Amino acid sequence: MKKDKILIAPSILNADFKNLYNQIKNIEKGGADWIHLDIMDGHFVPNISFGPSMVETVNNITNLYLDVHLMIEHPEKFIKVFKEAGADSIAIHNEVCKDIRRNIELIKNMELNVGVAINPDTPAENVINIISDVDMILVMTVFPGFGGQKFIPYTLDKIRRIREYAEKNNNNLLIEVDGGIDDENISKIANAGANVFVIGSTIFKQSNIEEAIKNIRNAIKT
Ligand code: DX5
Ligand code: ZN
Repeated sequence: MKKDKILIAPSILNADFKNLYNQIKNIEKGGADWIHLDIMDGHFVPNISFGPSMVETVNNITNLYLDVHLMIEHPEKFIKVFKEAGADSIAIHNEVCKDIRRNIELIKNMELNVGVAINPDTPAENVINIISDVDMILVMTVFPGFGGQKFIPYTLDKIRRIREYAEKNNNNLLIEVDGGIDDENISKIANAGANVFVIGSTIFKQSNIEEAIKNIRNAIKT
């Protein structure tokens, strides 16, 4: 997937689960590219969300690309079950992997796209040496665990550094950002080099999901 394509990936973390089928259909009508599923274990992050059965449910509702974000310890134990549930890509956190290269291989061997995620306080340098081995770097723009948080501005510089390095070493690298993205900040984040936007509350707090997605895409002036 070319880095210059802008992808919108609504996160269903704060969706209305009693109305999930319709919400996902509205995400499709709004022209979203991916659906982002935040998996949380209550250990790596101070919250518990959902697991493979939610991925399977969403996979049975839509053909959109399912972007699974594992905010869990020992992610290597769960790659297969999320693949079987319907994941198209899996992002694991650099902070919990003793052997990140082994886990990257594990995900690739399952014929999944692979992402490595870094928390706001993890330096970009920690992932520079694996940029040519992955499809995507997920730059957390909030501390993981909850939707509705404020974007952390110092993460912009990390996005720039990763994009700069990718220009020379993996020109197709996707840079995904996750947390606090809205109509006001999305342009400057795109200009810094991000091109996959995980968006939760900006979309789900609005009554018209379809319109919210179209508005946020139109807010990007790169
Ligand atoms: C944090 C979650 C959230 C979510 C997006 O762990 O990953 O960032 O996806 O939520 P908003 O868009 O509400 O910040
Ligand atoms: Zn996420």
